[in-house]
Amino acid sequence: MSDATERGGAGSVPSADTLAEWKRAAAHAAVATIPEDAIVGLGSGSTAELMLRELAARVGQGSRVTGVPTSEHTGQVAAALGIPLADVNDVPALTVSIDGADEVTLPRLDLIKGRGGALLREKLIAATSRFRIIIVDATKIVVTLASAHPIPVEVVPFGWHRTADRLVALGARPALRLAPSALSTDPNAAPYVTDGGNYILDCMFGPIPQPDVLAAYIKAVVGVVEHGLFIGMTERVYVGGPAGVQMYDRPRSP
Ligand code: 5RP
Repeated sequence: MSDATERGGAGSVPSADTLAEWKRAAAHAAVATIPEDAIVGLGSGSTAELMLRELAARVGQGSRVTGVPTSEHTGQVAAALGIPLADVNDVPALTVSIDGADEVTLPRLDLIKGRGGALLREKLIAATSRFRIIIVDATKIVVTLASAHPIPVEVVPFGWHRTADRLVALGARPALRLAPSALSTDPNAAPYVTDGGNYILDCMFGPIPQPDVLAAYIKAVVGVVEHGLFIGMTERVYVGGPAGVQMYDRPRSP
C-alpha cells in the first residue's frame, strides 16, 4: 500500500500552509458546536492551539465557556488568549473536550496521541468528558494504527531501561524521547520530561490490527504510567482536507 493511501489518500504532500488551513477549518467546525456555557477540555498540539484561538474568539463575543487545559503549555496559551480556566479537580465533569491526534482510524475513531508529550493529561481529560471531539487534518487518517508512527508510552523514570525491556517483550522497539534541544547522537542527552515528571518511550510496533488488546497489554506493564492508544474514547472527529471539513461520529455499539 502506498504511503499516500495509508495516510488517507490526500494525494501529493500538502504544504505547511495548506495543512494549517485544514487544521484551522477543523478547529472552527468543532468550536462552532460548543454550547455557550460549556466546560471544555482544551487539548494540546498545533491543531489544538488553533482551536484555542477559535474559542478565544467565542469568548470575545460573550460566550461563557470555561477551559480545562491538558498541558501546562495549553494553559499558558489559553490564559494569554483570555479564556477562563478551571482545574479538573474543581469540576465534576467536562461538557466536551477538543483535542488533536497523531493517527485516526475510521469508522471506529481509535487514535494514537502523544507526539506532543501530553498524553497522560489528555487521557485524564478525555476520561472526564461527556463528549470527546478530535480535530485533525486529512493526513492523520490511517487504515491501521501504528503502521508508520510509534505509540508514545509514558513511563516512570525509575528503572525505565527495565520497563523498556518489558515493552520489547511485547514486540515494541522503544526509543527514549529526548529533550527538544538534545542531539540524538549525544549519549548523555537529556530525556524529554512530561508535565507529570515522567519519561516517554516512543514504541514502534508496526501495524496493530487489535489496538484494544495491545492497549491492555501495555497498560499492564510495570513502570508504564499511560500510553497513547485512545481506544473507544472519541465520539466525533472533524477532518479538514481538500474537500473541506468532514465530520465522523463513532458508530453506536450494537
Ligand atoms: C499531544 C497530542 C497532540 O494532540 C497530537 O500530537 C497532535 O498534534 P498536532 O496537532 O500538532 O499534529 O497528542 O500530546
